[in-house]
Amino acid sequence: METKSHLVAPSLLSSNFLELANEIDMLNKSKADWFHLDIMDGRFVPNITFGFEIIKQIRTKTQKTLDTHLMIVEPEKYIERFREAGADIITVHYEASNHLHRLIYQIKETGAKAGVAINPHTPICVLEETLPFVDMVLIMSVNPGFGGQKFITTATDKVAKLDRIRKKHKYKFLIEVDGGVNLDTGKILLSAGANILVAGSFIFGSENPTKTIEQLKIL
Ligand code: DX5
Ligand code: ZN
Repeated sequence: METKSHLVAPSLLSSNFLELANEIDMLNKSKADWFHLDIMDGRFVPNITFGFEIIKQIRTKTQKTLDTHLMIVEPEKYIERFREAGADIITVHYEASNHLHRLIYQIKETGAKAGVAINPHTPICVLEETLPFVDMVLIMSVNPGFGGQKFITTATDKVAKLDRIRKKHKYKFLIEVDGGVNLDTGKILLSAGANILVAGSFIFGSENPTKTIEQLKIL
């Protein structure tokens, strides 16, 4: 994947689900590039969110890229259904798969872009054999499961390290960071080499989400 300037992907996890249609409308009119959708199964992470039906309905309301972050065990069972529901990018966790190479190709075969995510405790080096064929790497800067957590600062070094490897090998994947992103952490992450900033509570918890998205866009 390619991008000229950085992208902002609001995480709907922190949106008001009772007002979902209005939240989508706001995002459509805003400078947000992608919709970040957090799928949790209560097994890979200690929380449960939403699944195919909600994604299908969101799909009917936006043309923007649906960036689905699967925090689920056995993701290989559900890839085709996430794609059918409307996912453009499907990101799976390194920690959730014993057969990551096969899984990445399973995602690509559906026509979706394939991402791989790593938890805060997982080092970049384990992705060495995966980097040549992924479209995106998602660096978690909080332990996945909940919005509104504090940014784990070691994520910045991981982004910088990954960016160096990307340059050295001329890899094409994008670097996304998720968790505790605000204007300060966002700026640091962008200078370390991040391409996509995911932000949930910082956007939806602010007085003017549209303006907050704009501020993240001009970092
Ligand atoms: C956490 C999710 C994030 C979450 C980020 O497991 O993957 O996408 O919504 O929330 P904030 O931006 O509030 O840390
Ligand atoms: Zn996420």
